[in-house]
Amino acid sequence: MDTYIGAMSGTSLDGVDAVLAGLAPPGPVPPALPVLQGSVHHDFDGALRSRLLALCAGQPVTLRELGEVEQLVTRAYARAIQALLQQTGTPAAAVRAIGAHGQTVHHQPRGTERFTQQLLDPNHLAVATGISVVADFRRRDMALGGQGAPLAPGFHDAVLRHPQRTRVVLNLGGIANISLLVPGQPCLGFDTGPANILLDAWIGARRGERFDRDGAWGASGNVHAALLARCLADPYFARPAPKSTGREHFHLAWLQAHLASLPGPAPGDADVQRTLLELTARSVADAVQAACAAQAGAAAGDLLVCGGGAFNPPLLDRLAALLPGWQVASTAAHGIPPDAMESLAFAVFAQRTVHGLPGNLPAVTGAARPCVLGALYLP
Ligand SMILES: Nc1ncnc2c1ncn2[C@@H]1O[C@H](COP(=O)(O)OP(=O)(O)O)[C@@H](O)[C@H]1O
Ligand SMILES: [Mg+2]
Repeated sequence: MDTYIGAMSGTSLDGVDAVLAGLAPPGPVPPALPVLQGSVHHDFDGALRSRLLALCAGQPVTLRELGEVEQLVTRAYARAIQALLQQTGTPAAAVRAIGAHGQTVHHQPRGTERFTQQLLDPNHLAVATGISVVADFRRRDMALGGQGAPLAPGFHDAVLRHPQRTRVVLNLGGIANISLLVPGQPCLGFDTGPANILLDAWIGARRGERFDRDGAWGASGNVHAALLARCLADPYFARPAPKSTGREHFHLAWLQAHLASLPGPAPGDADVQRTLLELTARSVADAVQAACAAQAGAAAGDLLVCGGGAFNPPLLDRLAALLPGWQVASTAAHGIPPDAMESLAFAVFAQRTVHGLPGNLPAVTGAARPCVLGALYLP
């Protein structure tokens, strides 16, 4: 077993998740399940979160601001990793490498100037921790014509595939993505659309809260059918895979524009929250059903949910209602805590890069070929 760290901060902008993982040497599939030896979550402080939100909002930004925020993000990663080492009693020398995703502030996988920007300075992180860092995971896939995202399906395929049952792994982060694992078929996957980005944005705007704990506020409202229909008419949902998205597309102003376009009295605040919950559930369920209909041998099976949305019971209830015949469960029931999944994936991707092995799935991202992801930075 080799020891790796995976560290991730997603589009929710909630902070850094880091895990310490024991990984068997990469070899022929199926690999052994990673051994989760410890995990931490560090919230971004309010000031950093506001600066990240401003960067993501697409306003003009100075290079100084970009550089400073990158250093603050790097410091947040370093702090989370140092806490993880301390908590698990692990010396830095025992860790082969850190897979550090960095903070996406812009993701533009289409058009003529395609790029994706993650803020993180791997040089500073390697020096601060004394551990080698693998970073910049997405841009080689993009250079090969891919979306650079989602990458997690390759990890889901490796650890959660079942030989007889169709499984879909659903990551409910800021954005939702699915991995379709059909027996005998290659893994497919894509971003289905918004999840916590909009849920967090609305409760933040109306009630000043970071997120709707346990989905309670949303559950107290009613679906506003006209708002839901307008949201679901966004062309992203009907676009074929490969596809990936982010805050550039789905954000508070996107929701406000739909609200402003509604005839009649404005929906109540809790009804909007409930409608956003329904939007997430509907867009995921529609995507699961369409992807299964297009895949030979796919049948209703297990929907395994990870990411922070796995802690939102009304959202899981709506998914179960919209996907009859499917068993909806947190990935915790299958040995992987939902909030550790993404960072575990980046521990495994770091290991693959250290061993010179590819980490992307061209069938998912659209890249021309498999490639080694990112680069290694020595302390
Ligand atoms: N107990 C909970 N109830 C409802 N939502 C939750 C809960 N815990 C976390 N979340 C949601 O999960 C989000 C974080 O999910 P995460 O998987 O870290 O997303 P990302 O990868 O985009 O950072 C939070 O912003 C919040 O919306
Ligand atoms: Mg997060």
